[in-house]
Amino acid sequence: MIRNAAAILVPVLALVSLSSCAKKEAAITPPTVENYSYAKPAEVAVSHMDIDLDVDFDNHVLTGSASFLLDNKAKSNVIHFDTWALNIRDVVLEDDQGNEKKARFVVGDSLELIGRPLSVVIEPNTRRVTVHYRTTAAARGVQWLTPEQTAGKQHPYMYTQSEAIHARSWVPCQDTPAIRFTYTANVHVPGGLMALMSAENPRAVAADGNYRFEMKQPVPSYLLALAVGNIQYRATGPRTGVYSEPEMVDKAKWELADLEKMMEAAEKLGGPYRWGQYDVLVLPPSFPLGGMENPRLTFATPIIVAGDRSLVSLIAHEMAHSWSGNLVTNATWNDFWLNEGFTTYVERRIDEVLYGREYADMQTMLGIRDLNEEWDEIGKDSQDCALYTEYNGRNPDEVPTMAAYEKANLFLTMMEDSLGRGNWDKFLRQYFDSHAFQTMTTKHFIRYLKDNVFAEDSTRYDALKIDEWIYKPGIPSNAPRVASKRFDQVDMQIAAFKQGVSAKGLNTKGWVTIEWQRFLDNLPRPLPAARLQDLDTAYDFSHANAAIQRSWLPSVIAAKWEPGYPALENYLMTIGRRFFVRPIYMDLAKTPEGLEWARGVYKKARPGYHPMTQTGIDLVLYPEKKAE
Ligand code: BES
Ligand code: ZN
Repeated sequence: MIRNAAAILVPVLALVSLSSCAKKEAAITPPTVENYSYAKPAEVAVSHMDIDLDVDFDNHVLTGSASFLLDNKAKSNVIHFDTWALNIRDVVLEDDQGNEKKARFVVGDSLELIGRPLSVVIEPNTRRVTVHYRTTAAARGVQWLTPEQTAGKQHPYMYTQSEAIHARSWVPCQDTPAIRFTYTANVHVPGGLMALMSAENPRAVAADGNYRFEMKQPVPSYLLALAVGNIQYRATGPRTGVYSEPEMVDKAKWELADLEKMMEAAEKLGGPYRWGQYDVLVLPPSFPLGGMENPRLTFATPIIVAGDRSLVSLIAHEMAHSWSGNLVTNATWNDFWLNEGFTTYVERRIDEVLYGREYADMQTMLGIRDLNEEWDEIGKDSQDCALYTEYNGRNPDEVPTMAAYEKANLFLTMMEDSLGRGNWDKFLRQYFDSHAFQTMTTKHFIRYLKDNVFAEDSTRYDALKIDEWIYKPGIPSNAPRVASKRFDQVDMQIAAFKQGVSAKGLNTKGWVTIEWQRFLDNLPRPLPAARLQDLDTAYDFSHANAAIQRSWLPSVIAAKWEPGYPALENYLMTIGRRFFVRPIYMDLAKTPEGLEWARGVYKKARPGYHPMTQTGIDLVLYPEKKAE
């Protein structure tokens, strides 16, 4: 296990010489790892990438090339790319006259999580480096789905998930958020399927299976994305729309009818949307995340298609990343809260415009509950309960992140309350504008805040406990209080139920998904079987949407209520969203019988999960393997 990636030096590399001449060649200096990447952003950085890929569903590989234009700032004689389980076939250099020749390159030793450096010798006049490569079955950033795992059950499907450090498993790249580049792509797929990227996208299937993409704005590697499947498009407005399988696409269009309004609300805060089009791709249920902010094309779990439009604030979140994250990008993963915290804050502001303040507050209250659950697990004194978090070589997918989302949202709400909404909104707008297409560190953010808000008035700065918010675990005493009358009403029904009122006797009129979540999350556990039966008969939770089941199933598990187990098994077999299945496995793992049952289901479910979900659940069900 890697303790401190930054401190690790790669063993000296053996030089592979591809040129036939006998002259002595200098050894390639082994790269060090910084922020999970071998790249040296200050020395030589990629400024543009052209990729050419063939998508092979029979063998589950991508084959092709990635060609890079360089910005060789330090007149470096070597460029280091990140790779993870890639098969590098050949590297070609092109000089400023357009002459090509084979490059000398080395694929170094592998580090866990980080992969192998691809070090290529370059010359002062090298303009372009082209890497010919193939992915392997081990690619962690790609999931290949069988037809059975899709809504239509007829066609295979594949998609990528690059954040945080998985782009390197499907394209060699300088895989650090500190480097941005524009890109184009030629992608060839089997006839009848549609290909989509985090770029300008097609709206119809290409008969010959050839697609051409262009991303004109510079993006960091973690925003590279590709999806291929039986996919259709529906517009929801002049610059917004949805993509999904034919079986889902109209439901998705109904659920996301407010995209255009959301965009207007977001632009009021962040300034004009700079990416042209905003579409959402609703993926099959194995997608490991709620959503991923791939530019121009958010990837989303089908769970958001709840049928009552009550989970669309997840899309407000991904849309908000068009400013916080995609425009102003965390410079290192330690600064992740700058991506996710500002995004959660803007998400709630969008909720407020579209659905009212109370609705936004209910979302925040659900968020605080998730935060408390995580903090109970990791301990409230953990440094992971600070906004700035040292990742220290840990797997970024396994670092606890609720502070980056929900604590940061409280922090930014506190800033808004203290400065007044008008002043704060002005600051926000200026923050996005003046750092557009740049990276941001926590230190630089604090400097910017001091310069632009506090003008050297350190007493006022200190009074707001800003350093405590950012660097210390826990919630400082000046946190805003959040309450909701609608949730009070839900809580009254919980109290009534506890006092013996039957399920049908409760007043649940007009409740949407998030109110049911509040209700189910706070039921006493374990409940007697008869009461669970009463609830399930009245409200059919066993067949409710995934968000409601996520809150219902812990009661089934706590009571070992057998009639609920078929639905539980079905849920674990069909849903791959990590945040939805992991807590359920954790509940099961609390008892020996539960653990045994969970391992049985997991054996069947695991092959269908994304690698990211697999890693998370492996740790829950087989903790003894962690130490190896
Ligand atoms: N950027 C994140 C997803 C992510 C985080 C991927 C860290 C890899 C590493 C995305 O914007 C996100 O936050 N998704 C959330 C949904 C959101 C509404 C809280 C998720 O997937 O649960
Ligand atoms: Zn996010």
